[in-house]
Amino acid sequence: MSTTPFLDPDVTASLYATPRRLGQRTGALHRAKTTGADATTTITTLATASTPNPAWILDVGCGRGTTTVALAHRYPAAAVLGVDRSPGLLAVVQARLVAEHRRAGLLPVADFHHLPLPTGAFDLAVASFCLYHAPEPAVVVAEIARCLRPGGQLIATTKSADSYHDLDAVIAASGLDPDATHRPSLYQSFHTDNAADVVAAAGLMIRRRLDQWHTFRFADLGHLAEYAATCPKYRLPPQVTADPAMLASQLRRHLPDGPVETASTVTYLVAAAPA
Ligand SMILES: C[S@@+](CC[C@H](N)C(=O)[O-])C[C@H]1O[C@@H](n2cnc3c(N)ncnc32)[C@H](O)[C@@H]1O
Repeated sequence: MSTTPFLDPDVTASLYATPRRLGQRTGALHRAKTTGADATTTITTLATASTPNPAWILDVGCGRGTTTVALAHRYPAAAVLGVDRSPGLLAVVQARLVAEHRRAGLLPVADFHHLPLPTGAFDLAVASFCLYHAPEPAVVVAEIARCLRPGGQLIATTKSADSYHDLDAVIAASGLDPDATHRPSLYQSFHTDNAADVVAAAGLMIRRRLDQWHTFRFADLGHLAEYAATCPKYRLPPQVTADPAMLASQLRRHLPDGPVETASTVTYLVAAAPA
């Protein structure tokens, strides 16, 4: 299987070093979104149904902490711990939790293959849009499961392997990266079609599954360039990825400007540790 940059620890370390790039990517996608429920709201709704009164909550690969903060809001009496490999992003999470007047001890900078956390301690764990960074996500799910108490719940989310593939066609058609359509999915290790098998292989029991169709409409090539410049799937010159306006003007040289539409399936699994 040829590999994807999402599985290269050096690439992901630089992608997630600071909140700026992740914010640019997420912001461009959110502005393009035309249908599909908000992921954070969906996760807290699933959490409420599966785990009404958790005392300890773990948010693995928490990024900038959007889910972490939403869980802290939803469960004011619970201890909420975010873990991530990026010290830069964890600092943001810490500040956001403090701004919410939440207890926020030092959040562990850790690789999710080896969580520096006790066994059987957590009532609820979330692993949202991060397991596709693991070459063997079942190993990570098993490590998260180790931290769950018997009967504790994991909510894992991911996207379909073909997410945003229409954008690959646009980038290829521009001539800037003609092979863009031939590369493997960024989500190849953990996606809509294999996620349930991966979670079950790690010893958890699937209790619930939700697949949501999300659609996106980028207003023009400038808007598309904001997202594409952050996407490690594309092999674009560094001066272009550093400057979305320059990428936009290069795209416009080869393509008619106008809206670009694409889609993604977002999959949510709720799974329980053996009781
Ligand atoms: C796309 S972001 C998702 C952030 C957040 N969970 C969300 O849903 O918005 C993926 C996160 O996974 C983290 N990550 C990637 N590989 C990791 C690893 N080996 N151990 C811990 N975190 C990792 C990255 O640092 C990044 O914050």
